[in-house]
Amino acid sequence: MRTSMQREGRSVAGGLILWVLAVVPSTAVGSDAAVRYRRICGPCHGQRGDGLGPAAGYLPLRPRDFTRGEYKFRSTPSGSLPLDSDLARTIRRGLPGTPMPAWRGALSEEEIGDVVRVVKSFSRRFADEPAPSRLQIPRPPRFDARLVREGRRTWKLFQCASCHGPRGRGDGPSVPGLRDSDGLPIRPRDFTVGIYKGGSSPRDVYRTFMTGLDGTPMPSYMDTLADERARWALVAYVQSLGRRPSFFDWLFADPLVSRAR
Ligand code: HEC
Ligand code: HEC
Repeated sequence: MRTSMQREGRSVAGGLILWVLAVVPSTAVGSDAAVRYRRICGPCHGQRGDGLGPAAGYLPLRPRDFTRGEYKFRSTPSGSLPLDSDLARTIRRGLPGTPMPAWRGALSEEEIGDVVRVVKSFSRRFADEPAPSRLQIPRPPRFDARLVREGRRTWKLFQCASCHGPRGRGDGPSVPGLRDSDGLPIRPRDFTVGIYKGGSSPRDVYRTFMTGLDGTPMPSYMDTLADERARWALVAYVQSLGRRPSFFDWLFADPLVSRAR
């Protein structure tokens, strides 16, 4: 009798210690960040990170469901988790042309790092899987008309136009059948507008098509396009399709987009 009571007492004490160990550090380290997440990200991404916040239904595009651990903008191989620096970049710069705002200025670098930890905490993948490898982006060659011409050939060879359309307007013949991982219709961006979700610098565009956008039909070309010059040529060609935004684009642009740029 005594022994079982002792055992019970011990297991209650043990449980209490475990609870203290689990809860105290997370409130001490994470509480500010968790509260901040709920206040500024929760309305779209949901308090539980499931992408079902109260504002989500009013958006033209679904906010990411963080419980899946599936991310579009990574510097890691297709199907892998993103690096912390990838998540921080997305949060800092936002995703131009989508409702996802840029938080640079509103959040300090330290606060962005804290929010990254909150976002990761919604998916077990980050605890279960080993750290993914990072794509090394070498120095680009000189961008000139010759490189653009070479890129045009690669664009044809790899049939980017089947989805992106011959002039990159996002109107390729495959578009009506394209679906994202939720089974919802998805269309590629109009490259002539020159606004990229994943960033518009040559390195950004290189990263996007090398790693692919998980959860969308946009594949990774890491293995199929091995020639370094051909990769940069493709970047040069994609960028050559863009035009500078006009006064009217600026006037009628989504304020979230202009803030993100
Ligand atoms: C106004 C709504 C809105 C708010 C507020 C918002 N997001 Fe988003 N977020 C989105 C949408 C919509 C997407 C999906 C865009 C897409 O798939 O192209 C997204 C995507 C993301 C992604 C996915 C990037 C990837 O690689 O797939 C991350 C990470 C993210 N948001 C983090 C945050 C964090 C952290 C906050 C708060 C600091 C936040 N978001 C606030 C709407 C929002
Ligand atoms: C099977 C269809 C398909 C093919 C083939 C394809 N793409 Fe895509 N691509 C997409 C879709 C869909 C998106 C938009 C994903 C999104 O916005 O979530 C996209 C997005 C992109 C983006 C990102 C734009 C941004 O907003 O940051 C780039 C860059 C890109 N594609 C380049 C290419 C290049 C270069 C090729 C050929 C080597 C190619 N794509 C082939 C479907 C395709």
